Amino acid sequence: MQITLETKPFAALETEALITYVFEESDPVQGRIAEIDKAAGGLLGKLAKSGELTGKMLEFTLVHAPAGLKTARLLLVGAGKREQFNGAALRKIAGAALRHLKSRSVKKFALLVREGAATEENAQTIAEGVLAADFEADKYKTEKKNGKTIESVEVSGYSDAERAAGDKGLSKGRIIADSQNFARDLINEPSNKLTPRILAQKAEAMAKEAGLAVEVLDEKKITDLKMGALLSVAQGGPEPPRVMVVTYTPANPKPGGPVIGLVGKAVTFDTGGISIKPAEGMEKMKYDMAGGATMLGVMRALAALKPGVKVICVVPSTENMPGGTAQKPGDIQTAMSGKTIEVLNTDAEGRLILADGVHYARQLGATHLVDAATLTGAIVVALANINVGVFGSDQPFTDKLLASAKAVGEKMWQMPIDDDYREFIKGTVADIQNIGSGKGGGAITGAMFIKEFTGETPWIHLDIAGTAWNDDAKPWLAKGPTGVALRTLVHLVMSY
Ligand code: BES
Ligand code: ZN
Ligand code: ZN
Repeated sequence: MQITLETKPFAALETEALITYVFEESDPVQGRIAEIDKAAGGLLGKLAKSGELTGKMLEFTLVHAPAGLKTARLLLVGAGKREQFNGAALRKIAGAALRHLKSRSVKKFALLVREGAATEENAQTIAEGVLAADFEADKYKTEKKNGKTIESVEVSGYSDAERAAGDKGLSKGRIIADSQNFARDLINEPSNKLTPRILAQKAEAMAKEAGLAVEVLDEKKITDLKMGALLSVAQGGPEPPRVMVVTYTPANPKPGGPVIGLVGKAVTFDTGGISIKPAEGMEKMKYDMAGGATMLGVMRALAALKPGVKVICVVPSTENMPGGTAQKPGDIQTAMSGKTIEVLNTDAEGRLILADGVHYARQLGATHLVDAATLTGAIVVALANINVGVFGSDQPFTDKLLASAKAVGEKMWQMPIDDDYREFIKGTVADIQNIGSGKGGGAITGAMFIKEFTGETPWIHLDIAGTAWNDDAKPWLAKGPTGVALRTLVHLVMSY
């Protein structure tokens, strides 16, 4: 799909559909909407009067062959209250408009920004919105899309003087959305098509293409490094584990500057192990590698956006299988850090592989850590599929991430991890245990476990179990993987 900036006045746009958005206010026909109304001989005023054009969020009003305009269709999308309008709303509107028109076999459209909105940021937001919305999980369908494809999008409402900013926004938005879709593609892959070894090959190919340094640790190297927690999960099945290490180094690194460590959980399938999961819904556990895929997507975007800080991405990957060689409840394992772990539930495997992942990232020189993981069902209980659970050991660092989330329109909510919760994971026969002995607080318990391996390094844990997968299609996004947290993490790294 092509996305270009078009500076022609809206009345001259010859396209299959011209889209713009309307605010919910006493008179929705204002500003640029009033200009369109004038060109179209009072059509929009009439629609508003009849109650067909209210500006309510994501209300669609489609007009065919509007008089006075060259476009074949005019699509007006409700944008909600003007005071509440922001980038997140614009992204949804752009995405929902694309999906609406695509389902009606439109191939080309123009999206007109409102008066005063011709900024770099908005162009980026629109590009992100339409590219994410265009993503479809149809790789394994032999009959695709019934020919329904969007070929080109023109972003309009920009003057010649605003073109440079608009173009810059479009190219940034393209980099970020393509990286998000790269992650979503990986997350969609079933476990027979994406084992740890295949994921590692794909990470290598991505890194080489993007110009990033990459190293893949195989089972021998993982054993030499004594990553006992990761190995304990991998021993349950025949597929060997992998650890991907992808590094971005800026052209002129600041001596003594921060080094960001990004660690992602990549369990390519989580059966639960000997503490096996029930059959219903187990197929979804192919997305238990979403954290790792997201971190690889972040690296792909950073390679093109070129931040001024060094970033090290560590992705531990394994299956969690209940084979004859699997670890059993009660087994004691020694993590790479030397800490001993009593594995009371083999289904709490994400924290085990992250224990070695974060420890290794610190050993490689990370001064700040962020991990992303589909870690707990408990975070779904706490925050549903709306907010990412955020756990941070350093408040200024956590605030910075929350500000990034807000800036890019990803919903994240901070959860507590004070020392009182440490009791939950205190071991009886080993240093710590991998599930809580208390009642409740399952997502916090998971976070407390990972924290044990982060030492003094400022660290943030993102529990994306509830938000990495859309169970139902949204008007602006297909059913399936969301790529959540990628935009926030790219923004966070770029803000250094
Ligand atoms: N991968 C799951 C968490 C998960 C649950 C992800 C639902 C996506 C949707 C994780 O490995 C797990 O099984 N966690 C257990 C922990 C428990 C045994 C302490 C859980 O949440 O039930
Ligand atoms: Zn599990
Ligand atoms: Zn898991």
